[in-house]
Amino acid sequence: MLKPAPVPETLLRVASTFGTPTYVYLENVLIDRISSLKKHLDGLPLQLLYAMKANHAIPLMKRIKQEGLGIDAVSPAELLLAIELGFPVDKILFSANNMTDSEMHFAKQKGAILNVGELSRLEKLGATYPGSDVCVRLNPQIGAGHHKHVITAGTESKFGIPVEQIDQIHSISQKYDLHVRGLHQHIGSGILDTDTLWKAINVMLNASLSFDRLEFINVGGGLGIPYRAGESGIPMDEFASKIVAPLKLFLSNHPSKKLQIWFEPGRFFTAECGVLLATVNTIKETEHITFAGVDSGMNHLVRPAMYGAFHEVVNLSNPDGPLQKYDIVGNICESADFFAKGRMVQQLREGDIVAVLDTGAYGMSMANHYNMRSLPAEVYVPSDSSKPILFRSRSTPESIVKEALSFV
Ligand code: LLP
Repeated sequence: MLKPAPVPETLLRVASTFGTPTYVYLENVLIDRISSLKKHLDGLPLQLLYAMKANHAIPLMKRIKQEGLGIDAVSPAELLLAIELGFPVDKILFSANNMTDSEMHFAKQKGAILNVGELSRLEKLGATYPGSDVCVRLNPQIGAGHHKHVITAGTESKFGIPVEQIDQIHSISQKYDLHVRGLHQHIGSGILDTDTLWKAINVMLNASLSFDRLEFINVGGGLGIPYRAGESGIPMDEFASKIVAPLKLFLSNHPSKKLQIWFEPGRFFTAECGVLLATVNTIKETEHITFAGVDSGMNHLVRPAMYGAFHEVVNLSNPDGPLQKYDIVGNICESADFFAKGRMVQQLREGDIVAVLDTGAYGMSMANHYNMRSLPAEVYVPSDSSKPILFRSRSTPESIVKEALSFV
């Protein structure tokens, strides 16, 4: 059984109006995911942030702002864009990894909340800006994720200050009168296992007891989604009983702390609202494999090559065709350039339009011009109208060459 494409007629219309390759984002799915998480976290003193590294498409960001979310920004450009779009700075966490001095000055000057994950940076912040507010990223020494490359806590992780070094956090803070307003963690991405998530959160809750002036605990993002037909994603009933209920209990046991709980998902909000549309250019039969070559590739969606990630591929223009086995490959000169291998898809013919599903997170935001290939167009489908809006045109050979030549 294949996972069905959402709104196939609209997607076909987008392909015929704007061509391919094109990323399409469905506002109604975005809103549904935000509302669903809000509903499941109901009753917590909550602030939701959006980890904009997942997708910084402007229409999505604007809609996310309307929902009252803050932002997790990890680079000066992300911070600048969030401010430019009107996100209030007191809801922007600046979590640059390996932060440089100039990034620290930049974020301080903009008024964002600095999230510091290294003792040496905490020391530099204190020495330069004594008396500052700060959030500290901890490594609870428990990590998780859909692939080892996306695990961001544990003994082998470069992220966060190991929880065993809390005494040093306290002594640096005292030395420079730093006000640790928040504790943060993010243990990995694409997590479906609520037990591990809770264990890590619990480490942080215990750690929080030694901080007197704490205002929030940010438990990170990482919530997984169902990429395959029949998968259920993060089990929300389990999420409520294993994470939300014990969080509420902790808060009620420590009322004087008046803590807010922050979550900062990326994938959970935007993955399922995005579809990458491509056209089949070449069918190539060999003795062993039928290749379907499309006008896109790993430069537009690197997740299959980078993590062996699964994305459903659906033939929109031959939905009732018999299922056949294909390697669906791109046009990049690398053998890792595939969307699916040995995959059953409705019979593919040259000219067919395929939809690569659940590509709204870490799709376009990780895309690049490798092989001097164009970037896809981007289209937004507002929920109150079925009229798709092209908000970013596909780059062209001419625009890419013009940019390359502009550097000489
Ligand atoms: N907060 C921090 C500090 C992060 O580093 C990340 C993601 C998030 C929140 C959001 O995580 P999410 O809720 O989206 O899982 N490129 C990989 C994912 C890398 C995630 C990096 N950090 C992929 O395509 O699976």
